[in-house]
Amino acid sequence: MSAEFKKFLAEEKRLLQEKGCYRQMKTMDGASQAKISLNGKEVINFASNNYLGLANSNLLKQAVIKSLNEFGAGAGASRLLSGNLALHEQLEKILAQFKKTPAALLFNCGYMANCGLLSALSFRHDIIFSDQYNHASIIDGIILSRAKLIRYPHKDMAELRKLLIQNQQHRAKRFIVTDSVFSMDGDIAPLRDIVDLATEFEATVIVDEAHATGIYGKNGHGITELLDLEGEVDIQMGTLGKALGGFGAFVAADSLVIDYLINKARPFIFTTALPPPAIAAALKALDIVQNRPDLRDTLLQQANWFREELKNIGFNTLNSETHIIPILVGENEKAVQFSQKLVDAGIYAPAIRPPTVPQGTARLRISLMATHKMPDLEKALQILVKIGKKIRLI
Ligand SMILES: Cc1ncc(COP(=O)(O)O)c(C=O)c1O
Repeated sequence: MSAEFKKFLAEEKRLLQEKGCYRQMKTMDGASQAKISLNGKEVINFASNNYLGLANSNLLKQAVIKSLNEFGAGAGASRLLSGNLALHEQLEKILAQFKKTPAALLFNCGYMANCGLLSALSFRHDIIFSDQYNHASIIDGIILSRAKLIRYPHKDMAELRKLLIQNQQHRAKRFIVTDSVFSMDGDIAPLRDIVDLATEFEATVIVDEAHATGIYGKNGHGITELLDLEGEVDIQMGTLGKALGGFGAFVAADSLVIDYLINKARPFIFTTALPPPAIAAALKALDIVQNRPDLRDTLLQQANWFREELKNIGFNTLNSETHIIPILVGENEKAVQFSQKLVDAGIYAPAIRPPTVPQGTARLRISLMATHKMPDLEKALQILVKIGKKIRLI
């Protein structure tokens, strides 16, 4: 490594530390579950997207072991070479049924799905209207596409309308893209209004259901189901690695879109197919979602209760209305300090700082799991009050 390059890296690290934005990984000693061992200490886990507790469930483990014995550890090639197992196609068929779309296509993770989808569908002269708080993978997909990115203020439909009017003369393709559940705020996009605006201005709607798949709607299909919009959202993306407990992602849409992606989406084409155990886990998880509505009911009931308690205590949970509950802190250092004190007291709620969230809005991100036990949630509230007071947040 050249001395110049070393100097550059050291300076970058110093700057991140100075801003309170330096990131370090923490080590979990076991499986992802409601209580974990963090650097050797048992803590209540509020940092997992394993919302239904499926990642470490016996049912998923058994399905994975069975498929491992039958199909092996890896697919061996990309889907377009010899990696396309009947298992992949079976899962895609079930995902399309689940999302009530004509077709679906697997991607290796949500990040790749968003990058692949957006960069394949749009080009330099197209316009993408994107909610200010959309996930980084959406932004990166837009950057890859080289389309014009127009960020609209978070959930501000009046402003989106204005921007659509301003760009109405544009002859190229228009897209409106949004998370359905926002990953750091825990609020829900106004999808009905977005779909109506898209119809009026001839735009294509892309919705990222990463944090909603398996949880929202009568059958767990997502916010599109909750808001009665199945069949009205053009393109949906979902992940298999959060509530579904495994790994991977998918895009569900019209067959024309899916065929196009098979031919054009580089993160689909140029990578090894998802391994059979990941497919088996997703198949089993979808089966559980269909047959165990009590899991999502428990998750949402507990989340509603926990959020109301936090608000009553005096914490600012922003506009959360889901199982993702932020506690606004403000300064980066204070959020890190809060999080560390909580770990010491037996709770893991990570501090989220810029650039993941806007400057001055550092926060703790609490995500609930269906497998959290009520006594643990009650204990967590007591600890949050005690430390919240100590650091003068409440
Ligand atoms: C809204 C959103 N979209 C996409 C992703 C990426 O999904 P994956 O973890 O499967 O890459 C995430 C992950 O955190 C997310 O929060």
